[in-house]
Amino acid sequence: MRKAVILAGGTGTRLSPMTKIINKHLLPVGRYPMIYWSLFKLQEACVKDILIITSRDHLDSFQQLLGDGKEFGVRLSYAVQEEASGIAAALSIAKTFVQNEKFLVILGDNLFDDKLTPFIEEFKQQEDGAYILLKKVQNPKRYGIACIDDKTNKVYELLEKPNIKGPAYCVTGIYMYDPTVFSFIEQVSPSARGELEITDVNLIYVKRQAMAFNFLKDWWIDAGTPESLFEANYHYFTREKAAGGYDD
Ligand code: G1P
Repeated sequence: MRKAVILAGGTGTRLSPMTKIINKHLLPVGRYPMIYWSLFKLQEACVKDILIITSRDHLDSFQQLLGDGKEFGVRLSYAVQEEASGIAAALSIAKTFVQNEKFLVILGDNLFDDKLTPFIEEFKQQEDGAYILLKKVQNPKRYGIACIDDKTNKVYELLEKPNIKGPAYCVTGIYMYDPTVFSFIEQVSPSARGELEITDVNLIYVKRQAMAFNFLKDWWIDAGTPESLFEANYHYFTREKAAGGYDD
């Protein structure tokens, strides 16, 4: 797969006031700004053409920090999401970048250790459709949740932040799509929180029996709250220390 989109917009409300002037995806995680970790993962999977979508206020910071992507051995381009109108609305901006190819989407606050390559290989075998990565969580209320039929091993329902008790399978912010996703985004309407939800777009694939999935095996976190941001920092520092790479 050649192309990926990193969504790095949003208002980062749960991390306010840290995100009042700094974009969430530029906050420190381990020894890097958060967005580096998505770039490292794409670099590792040899995905070289990357579009970063962020808000107008923060575009300059991203461009100053990452430039054209040479440092990472990738080609970076940028686009602006004018309003924080949801993940699906942000994704619609990627249409001209994606053109007619299958592509990958990462929510920039989703940090993980799994290599993307085996999942990308699996999705390549699929002629079309979409592919999501799941992880077991204890607090389903914070996430998009996938219901899986044990007998058929298929996703039959997706629920955005359901008021249910855990454990449940969270739909992580790592998605793969065919280009028809853009016409599906046009079909969804704003949710109760006034956003175009990626879960509603994914549901169209589920209803058409075109949604594949797999599980992340290793560590994963959505670093969008103070506690999970702390946990992410702890994870990367401990990992680096264990590898003997951190001595200051
Ligand atoms: C978003 C998605 C949700 C997904 C989560 C993963 O939630 O809406 O489906 O499980 O990312 O990080 P948000 O972080 O926008 O509340």
